[in-house]
Amino acid sequence: MSFTPIGEPRRKITAATIREKKFQRDPITCLTAYDYATARLIDEAGIDIVLVGDSLAMTMLGYENTLSVTVDEMLHHVRAVRRGTKDALLIADMPYGSYHATSEEAIHNAARFVKEGGAEAVKMEGGEKRVDVIRRVIDAEIPVAGHIGLTPQSVNMMGGYKVQGKTLNAIEQLMRDAVALDRAGVACIYLEGIPREVAAMITAEVETPTIGIGAGPECDGQVLVFHDLVNLTFGHSAKFVRHYGDAAALITQAVLTFKADVVSHQFPNDSESYHLPKDTRAALETVLHRKHALQR
Ligand code: KIV
Repeated sequence: MSFTPIGEPRRKITAATIREKKFQRDPITCLTAYDYATARLIDEAGIDIVLVGDSLAMTMLGYENTLSVTVDEMLHHVRAVRRGTKDALLIADMPYGSYHATSEEAIHNAARFVKEGGAEAVKMEGGEKRVDVIRRVIDAEIPVAGHIGLTPQSVNMMGGYKVQGKTLNAIEQLMRDAVALDRAGVACIYLEGIPREVAAMITAEVETPTIGIGAGPECDGQVLVFHDLVNLTFGHSAKFVRHYGDAAALITQAVLTFKADVVSHQFPNDSESYHLPKDTRAALETVLHRKHALQR
């Protein structure tokens, strides 16, 4: 297993690196990022994949679900993340409606993420029923990440955010979806919200690296939404979320302390203020003194 301490140079991560990691049983790490600063911190910490997920619809834009976010809104964030990402593989999520009508439209939108956003791959939800479109995008020289299981863009079809793959028929379909994506040559397959046992079977079956979120520890890698990682979400967290920090508490504390300091005239203090150069200050005092003398 490789370990790159923060600050040391590391090699650029590509789709090939990710595949190599699967064969070396070296766990793949992935986090979402939606802005320059976060992307930079994640990249410099040596995370393998930075995913600009359409989860930004909720985490950054306050939408109720991922369905309303547009290609242009996503692109705005992809460009910022691009500027903060050097070594990690940068994957951009294709939002709902941007690849569902025709392959031409899918290629056009995927190419925008590459040309205008600097993404190195795009992610599309769906297995067998999306595989023709996915193949066309790969043929257009754009690496694609697959995403199956609990696919949030299908929330209305699923009737809510429900764990998938719980019946024998559903397991069989998931396996067919994974194999179809594997054969199409996707760069990796995100497995979301499925039983650990099913994710383990898929991971053993396909050559493509699997990256799990709520899919148990046997996947080739793991992804978390950054806002979940640092507890910057509001309301209920899914079972699979582990908070590695408490940004909500940190930010709230900082904001409350700032407010209290301003109200009590503790901020800013003298050392946080700019001062006139000595000679200008002396000259100003002389001018003010004369002005007051004339007014008397
Ligand atoms: O949009 C997103 O953040 C995702 C991950 C949860 C895989 O698709």
